Amino acid sequence: MANRKVLTTQVAILGAGPAGLMLSHLLAKAGIESTVLELRSHQEIAETVRAGILEHGSVNLLVDCGVSDRVLRDGDRHDGIELRFNGESHRIDFQDLVGESVWLYPQTDVFLDLAARRQADGGDVRYSVTDTSILDIEGKPKVWFTDADGVDYELQADFVTGADGSRSQSRSAIPEARRQRYLHEYPFAWFGILTEAPRSSNELIYAHSANGFALISQRTETVQRMYFQCDPNEDVGNWSDDRIWETFRSRVNGNGFELKEGPVIDKTVLKFRSSVLTPMRHGNLFLAGDAAHTVPPTGAKGLNLALHDVKVLFEGLDSFYRTGNARLLDAYSDLALDRVWKAQQFSYWMTSMLHTPAEAGGFTRARQLGELNSVVSSRHGRAYLAEAYTGWPGSR
Ligand code: DHB
Repeated sequence: MANRKVLTTQVAILGAGPAGLMLSHLLAKAGIESTVLELRSHQEIAETVRAGILEHGSVNLLVDCGVSDRVLRDGDRHDGIELRFNGESHRIDFQDLVGESVWLYPQTDVFLDLAARRQADGGDVRYSVTDTSILDIEGKPKVWFTDADGVDYELQADFVTGADGSRSQSRSAIPEARRQRYLHEYPFAWFGILTEAPRSSNELIYAHSANGFALISQRTETVQRMYFQCDPNEDVGNWSDDRIWETFRSRVNGNGFELKEGPVIDKTVLKFRSSVLTPMRHGNLFLAGDAAHTVPPTGAKGLNLALHDVKVLFEGLDSFYRTGNARLLDAYSDLALDRVWKAQQFSYWMTSMLHTPAEAGGFTRARQLGELNSVVSSRHGRAYLAEAYTGWPGSR
């Protein structure tokens, strides 16, 4: 303690994922100082394969804050998705139904764009730090940490933001009696692959089948991203390329549609659950993104929610520093949670409609088909899906 170097900033941010970096960037543009601390190295974050869909509101945020050139140049606008069941595809036409689109642009690229921009602007982002602890969040907060060179610091700030992901340390700085965590477990996980193959489809295919769910997504002309439902305890080591493609074929191919196959270059099991921590603020600590809430990946809401949190939090902090009025900042948790619960519902619904529980009997599968048919055969059903998938109108 005696030898801790003291640093000061206005907002200390834990986590240099898209949420932490976006907050730091927005604050810098408004003339508010921040320091970002990250346990992982830049390289480790850059090499993690993450989800790929941005709502129009997330793209607008990247455009409005001037980090847009790559998302607009290299991202792909998608005007719809396909729901595939009983061997047939049904298009959900977002443009026709709600006049909106989403963009396929991987989260890893959002990270790279924001990290490059913070670096170019001289932002204080410290990777590979260790031994972080947050103190005095009910008063004048401090964060203790050790940097990559082993130097110990005390970072003093007006506010701390915990944007440190689903295994967040910052949320445990909130006294147990002052937080409530809601959890929901699912009896499935996703087996995610990257494959060197051409695109099988221009749009995403969400496929329900008697053998389980599969999702066909894309990355580039030559690399594709795909997922299939698996047991949460599945071991990637048990899966040869042949077995992987056999699984995809049995869930997606049929009626003249065939996936284009290629060598599998990345395999991961993604475990998931729904979680929400309320409130998302205690004292001068604000939680944002996965640190406060996680959703199952069906519907790709995770990154979009994190960016929404950060936009609302930025507006509260900006208003506070400009006018001294904390009204907007005080509304942060309620405003963010409003969208979080909508997204929880949507992700839960998509997940339970499209995945087949291992023990599902004939009734469950036939009821799911009834549900899918109700959705695709009704303009209202398709519009609900389109509205939620593209990110709810008027909410940003
Ligand atoms: C991707 C991931 C998702 O969870 C999803 O719903 C759609 C696409 C992806 O990684 O491309």
